[in-house]
Amino acid sequence: MSFPWAQEYQPKQPLMRWLDEKLPLPRFVYNAIGAGYPVPRNLNYFWNFGVLAGFCLVLQIVTGIILAMHYAPNAQVAFDSTEHIMRDVNWGWMLRYAHANGASAFFVVVYIHIFRGLYFGSYKAPREMIWLLGVVIYLLMMATGFMGYVLPWGQMSFWGAKVITGLFSAIPLIGTPLQEWLLGGFAPDNAALNRFFSLHFLLPFVIAAVVILHIWALHIPGSSNPTGIEVKSESDTVPFHPYYTAKDGFGLGVFLILYCTMLFFLPNALGHPDNYIPANPLSTPAHIVPEWYYWPFYAILRAFTSDFFFIPAKLMGVLAMFSAILLFFFLPWLDTSPVRSGKYRPLFRKFFWFGLIPDVLILGYCGGSPAAEPYVMISQIAAAYYFLHFLVILPIVSSIERPEPMPFSITEAVLGKDDKAVLVPASAGDLPPAATPVPAA
Ligand code: HEM
Repeated sequence: MSFPWAQEYQPKQPLMRWLDEKLPLPRFVYNAIGAGYPVPRNLNYFWNFGVLAGFCLVLQIVTGIILAMHYAPNAQVAFDSTEHIMRDVNWGWMLRYAHANGASAFFVVVYIHIFRGLYFGSYKAPREMIWLLGVVIYLLMMATGFMGYVLPWGQMSFWGAKVITGLFSAIPLIGTPLQEWLLGGFAPDNAALNRFFSLHFLLPFVIAAVVILHIWALHIPGSSNPTGIEVKSESDTVPFHPYYTAKDGFGLGVFLILYCTMLFFLPNALGHPDNYIPANPLSTPAHIVPEWYYWPFYAILRAFTSDFFFIPAKLMGVLAMFSAILLFFFLPWLDTSPVRSGKYRPLFRKFFWFGLIPDVLILGYCGGSPAAEPYVMISQIAAAYYFLHFLVILPIVSSIERPEPMPFSITEAVLGKDDKAVLVPASAGDLPPAATPVPAA
């Protein structure tokens, strides 16, 4: 939303004035991420993670392009070319570790970004489109990460590709031909490696395009904030620059310290040692695991151990795994509470911290553990709770919960009072008037 008090771009130098007339790109940047974008004054550090995700995407694209200059997407030499990068290419080890740990960092940042949205109700009207585009980005990230892990052509690359593409064979009738068509053969080999490389190179640019739509959709209602109350007056906002460029800069510094610690001191902590063994189709690893960021979904996939009448267990696992992500598309309509932020929702908060968060962590732990007891049984209970949380608990909580009293405005939430408050007509999804005290005139 462009607020009436947004600062206007006024180029001072003749060159900038000329550019503004011919191609107003600096004006666009000023209005998108500069002083021309008024942002709620109360954003906390959880609002740094969108910008950090953008940084990770750029980091992955830059390191990936340079890696691609030295990598050979051919099953005969892919493993050796990766070792060549590690040993012979100048700073090659750093590039590869930067890219592999960059992928993990990207997922950490995006998971925090998603859970921020879940807790503060950022997915609710009028921001449903930002959320839906976010889910598309997340799906694309999952596909990109999977294909990237296949490229070094180590044992986990090969067997991971075999297990994941094998999921398609669960589809009735067309499953096996579809799997063979996707692989370009009966098992992962040169054809599969080539197409994975091609798509792994392409998809980050598709993600970048969807991120542009994501940010565009964000600028229509403007950012939400920890109270979930919409902006009511000028005193509720500050210009993005310098306030949030400074805050994001600080967040980026902290992120870089943690990222560089992983990169330089623990570069293999999140990888699997078996991926330093060349792919061998004749030797199945005892324990095939994907990268950590897929573990909760992998646990849901493996939670189905016996057929249900004529539905094979594998098909149910595949359907459940995809549904676990696809249900995010329906979240804005599953949670019907008019209050956005978990800060004022006592019951929602309890189920969030003591239900959803431990459940996802347990699923993650089970997904990374062998497919044996007690992990299978725990995965089954945790997978059942996962669906129960979103499909049953959340809608019921939304309808029975009594929200806590809320401040009238963002300014009041920050200063304890809001002398300049103005009453504006309630926008779609704005807060229930019952919970808002009337401000002093
Ligand atoms: C490449 C990945 C992504 C990038 C670069 C990105 C970038 C951003 C940026 C810069 C913002 C504004 C700052 C902020 O609120 O943190 C934002 C907001 C938002 N993002 Fe993302 N995002 C990504 C992925 C996702 C995903 C996967 C989801 C959800 C599934 C998501 C949901 C949202 C929502 C709902 C908002 C609005 C938050 C609010 O105003 O309260 N984003 N994103």
